[in-house]
Amino acid sequence: MSVIVTRLRAAGCVFAEDEADLLVSTARTPADLAAMVDRRAAGLPLEHVLGWAEFCGLRIAVDAGVFVPRRRTEFLVREAAALAGPRAVVVDLCCGSGALGAALVASRRDQVELHAADIDPAAVRCARRNVAAAGGQVYEGDLYEPLPAALRGRVDVLLANVPYVPTEEIGLLPPEARIHEARVALDGGADGLDVLRRVTAAAPLWLAPGGHLLVETSERQVSRTVETFAGDGLIPRVAVSDELNATVVIGTRPAPGDTGLAGLSREVG
Ligand SMILES: C[S@@+](CC[C@H](N)C(=O)[O-])C[C@H]1O[C@@H](n2cnc3c(N)ncnc32)[C@H](O)[C@@H]1O
Repeated sequence: MSVIVTRLRAAGCVFAEDEADLLVSTARTPADLAAMVDRRAAGLPLEHVLGWAEFCGLRIAVDAGVFVPRRRTEFLVREAAALAGPRAVVVDLCCGSGALGAALVASRRDQVELHAADIDPAAVRCARRNVAAAGGQVYEGDLYEPLPAALRGRVDVLLANVPYVPTEEIGLLPPEARIHEARVALDGGADGLDVLRRVTAAAPLWLAPGGHLLVETSERQVSRTVETFAGDGLIPRVAVSDELNATVVIGTRPAPGDTGLAGLSREVG
């Protein structure tokens, strides 16, 4: 074990002991373990080496190249779970590994109708494993395009953790993301909001009256995100978690008689 820790530490792994424990407990054979240590020491993300990531207390399968669900995104799932009523219809757009939808379903006792979609075939293959376990369906294609038309106007909760890194800032990301996650999972265009604007523009068509769109964003992008939501007819609200350093914008499609008040809520952890 100490040999592995030394090797990982030399490769720059800050939590070398914890990582060594995870590698040892996941490897099936000594040869498997040696190969995993080599891959980690070469700079692959730990989750890609293990083949899974922990998210909301679940083990989510994550294949090579697929976006690793981030701890901060657990806040988006918590906010979504608080908004989803009984037997909610949930769509996870830009689903990556499918972690968000799978975690939302796992957090509830009642039945949820889950649909997820992504443009990247590798993500879709991976999401099928995670989302099938949650009883959901996964589709491949550009944003809403592959979803069944029957979902229009019926979606209660629309999760969309879209790529939101401005193109020029991709080069500043840690190598684990920059090199080992697909560009399409990170690049949000010139100001980082290109995909988000497309999601928001069509959201009122898919949301049920009173339904909610939830996106994660950065502090820097929050005011433009709120403006975009309001411009597309959604009532915006910002939720912040200090504990997870996460910002979520929630847009509600007005229901008949809705007063349309925007707001901010902060979860101090
Ligand atoms: C930041 S990752 C988030 C993945 C997952 N939601 C999560 O939080 O772990 C963004 C995802 O959006 C997908 N994506 C990017 N552009 C897309 C598009 N036009 N249509 C569908 N999916 C897209 C990428 O393939 C990637 O899986």
